[in-house]
Amino acid sequence: MKDAQPRAIYLKDYQQPDYWIETTHLVFDLGDESTRVTSTLKFHLNTSKKHDQLPPLELVGTDMELISVAIDGQVQTKEQYQISKERLILQPVFEQFETVIVNDIKPQENTSLEGLYSSSSMFCTQCEAEGFRKITYYLDRPDVMSVFTTTVIADKERFPVLLSNGNAIERKDLDNGRHLVTWNDPFKKPAYLFALVAGKLEFVEDTFTTMSGREVTLRIFVEPHNITKCDHAMVSLKKSMRWDEEVYGREYDLDIFMIVAVDDFNMGAMENKGLNIFNSSCVLARPDTATDATFQRIEAIVAHEYFHNWSGNRVTCRDWFQLSLKEGFTVFRDAEFSADMNSRTVKRVEDVNLLRSHQFVEDAGPMAHPIRPDSFIEINNFYTLTVYEKGAEVVRMIHNIVGKEGFRKGTDLYFERHDGQAVTCDDFVKAMEDANGVDLTLFRNWYSQAGTPVLDVTDEYDEDAQEYRLTVKQSCPATPGQETKKLFHIPLEMGLLDGEGEPMPLDKSGLTTKVLDIKQPEETFVFTGVDERPLPSLLRGFSAPVHLNYDYSREDLVFLMSYDEDGFNRWDSCQRLAIDIIMELVGKVQKGEELVLDSSLIEAFGKVLADDSLDKAMVAELLHLPSETYLAEQMEVIDIDAIHQARQFVKQSLAAALKDQLVAVYNELNIDKPYKPEADDIAERTLKNTCLGYLVELDEETGVQLAQAQYAGAGNMTDSMAAMSCLASAEHASSRPLAEKALQEFADKWAEDTNVIDMWFSTQAACHHNGLEKVKELMQHKAFDKKNPNKMRSLVGAFCGRNLVNFHDKSGSGYEFLADEVIRIDALNPQLAARLINPLTRWKRYDEERRELMQKVLKRIQQHELSSDIFEVVSKSLA
Ligand code: ARG
Ligand code: ZN
Repeated sequence: MKDAQPRAIYLKDYQQPDYWIETTHLVFDLGDESTRVTSTLKFHLNTSKKHDQLPPLELVGTDMELISVAIDGQVQTKEQYQISKERLILQPVFEQFETVIVNDIKPQENTSLEGLYSSSSMFCTQCEAEGFRKITYYLDRPDVMSVFTTTVIADKERFPVLLSNGNAIERKDLDNGRHLVTWNDPFKKPAYLFALVAGKLEFVEDTFTTMSGREVTLRIFVEPHNITKCDHAMVSLKKSMRWDEEVYGREYDLDIFMIVAVDDFNMGAMENKGLNIFNSSCVLARPDTATDATFQRIEAIVAHEYFHNWSGNRVTCRDWFQLSLKEGFTVFRDAEFSADMNSRTVKRVEDVNLLRSHQFVEDAGPMAHPIRPDSFIEINNFYTLTVYEKGAEVVRMIHNIVGKEGFRKGTDLYFERHDGQAVTCDDFVKAMEDANGVDLTLFRNWYSQAGTPVLDVTDEYDEDAQEYRLTVKQSCPATPGQETKKLFHIPLEMGLLDGEGEPMPLDKSGLTTKVLDIKQPEETFVFTGVDERPLPSLLRGFSAPVHLNYDYSREDLVFLMSYDEDGFNRWDSCQRLAIDIIMELVGKVQKGEELVLDSSLIEAFGKVLADDSLDKAMVAELLHLPSETYLAEQMEVIDIDAIHQARQFVKQSLAAALKDQLVAVYNELNIDKPYKPEADDIAERTLKNTCLGYLVELDEETGVQLAQAQYAGAGNMTDSMAAMSCLASAEHASSRPLAEKALQEFADKWAEDTNVIDMWFSTQAACHHNGLEKVKELMQHKAFDKKNPNKMRSLVGAFCGRNLVNFHDKSGSGYEFLADEVIRIDALNPQLAARLINPLTRWKRYDEERRELMQKVLKRIQQHELSSDIFEVVSKSLA
């Protein structure tokens, strides 16, 4: 597929380019079979590098046919250039020159969804990270920034809307029913931020007045049948624009901001300058078609992409090793935005849950890498939870170290210093240091080291001396390529509780919460004037992305759950308690012993349900048992069957013991009111549906009947979806026919709505009553599309990633199935294949039988001709 076997590239080898591109003028002539691209580029020599003679100009380009190439008007003959599968090499004779390159591409045949491709009846692009090289020969690297002018020509009837970055500067009709639009983007940008869209699209429009009083036009483009689903994204966009002005002083800089929704997209969305392109599932919503979770995801992703205009576009990355510079920072920004728009603690809990159940797993596996990797084979494999979510945690730690105002000083300096530049993670840290006069030398190890650090905490109380001593040891497990680790600077936020649950002053100032800066392998912190043995509340707000061990008793955890002034730690104590109890039961399942649920969990959950003072969203989070994935991480050798059985047992026992309370809370919240995607209403629905989720675990009809009634009367997708999935997963036999009927009705009703049908697929694929046969059957459904990423993720991804007992069936059928799908998809869309394969990569953690089965299919995959994406994942997993 490639020139040779894929090779790794290294951060240490970074060099500036030999030439810069001042201006890029592109003409796209979109045709029925192929598209002609004419590119005019103005180059000049990079004089900050030493050259004995003019170096060759090495442009990258793949999957295209070169028609002609000229330098300064001289058409180059075949003897004057070199061309290979991935490169076009020219020899300039002046320090400044202009190239005109004509090439043909076939977007209609592009199944990889990078570069220019077609989705339903439209054309669109995805250029990050290295998709631009599938459009034309170029210096496709983020440190080459250029001013783009783009002309798009197409049939006017079929493609009335022609979009690119910046402002439209010319429109005109041509012969043969064709027309042309030219766009100019005055801001220099790297090629990965280029975008083009053509299609029969409609839009909703609004305006936003910026803080300096400029009016910006806002447009969301969709296929006509989706025009009623844009309102929430528009509201979210306006909120984001205002928030970035208020919190970061950042104003939007073009006259128009556009969002386009497309059905075929590898990721969530893309921040192309002035023209964001979104996976339709991350932008379209109407109360009857989208759940609360989708509404919230849209708000977060619209914000994320919008925030990139500064953190990513105005200041971009020097090279792809620096990806977390823009992604970690922007995820931190969108998380704070969501926290401000909704419940701060709930947002934190959700993010930490994601981090601990998925990023920690990645950081302990064969693909573990620092947030700034020092090598990669395929950059697309590094759009990871580590770069994004752990990257955001690292930025959050800086925020906590320098404080809110210090952080703003730091970002002001960063944007001022580097506006219009392509920079590194270190430049970001440096701006924080310079603005605040702090030393982050040790802290920088978070950028270069992989693995999740461990804090082992012990304590001692000396009654006579009235002294409390907290000893903290740090360590970090080895990860591939990093056998021994340097120290980390770990901010550990903590407090102490007295016997009444009151916060104790930590020093003379009376402070009851503070951050301990952990910088040694082992350190002891002494608190004086402590007149009774305290209970420590540790890692408040999850102040660092670490594992923290402290020997809490179950009573301690129940106590913290009730009294800790830190909301996050109240939740975390509840999780610790549940994990402790479930893991003990896992041991019993393995030994074939009888299972009995510890009454402390029942009491704790009962108290939570009865506590009217708590935010309802928080109650729902507290009642949420740790996921099977997170529980699996607690085991040396993962026993997925035992985990599933123990967790189900706990759910069922809680439902039985708390049935009356659950029914009461359910009924109290089951009120008919117009749908609003607002925090309080979402909280009520979430709690109600959480109660329903418990009630359908009972081996009797109560829950089933409630779910059935809710399904029949649901006034919005959140309630309808929840009821349907409760019916599908319910325990009692009476649910089977009702579930069948609901699923059928749902499919009939929503057959035409691709995003809704995806939820229908994933509900069934993730349901523990359904095995592989069901998934195979659903793959034959007329609404399924074997090439579409959303469909594949909804079915194959949900089954292999969430329906763990069935995916890991002892027969190995799940593994064989996934391997077949990965091989099939890899030939079409490597990025998608590399995401889907993930569940196979942790094979070393399972029992011997499964280990062998998984290893066998990985080796089978290795026999095929592979993309660099799959090549890298498979070879690293087998290593
Ligand atoms: N920059 C996009 C974001 O905001 C992600 C796009 C990555 N695309 C890819 N094909 N690797 O998260
Ligand atoms: Zn991003």
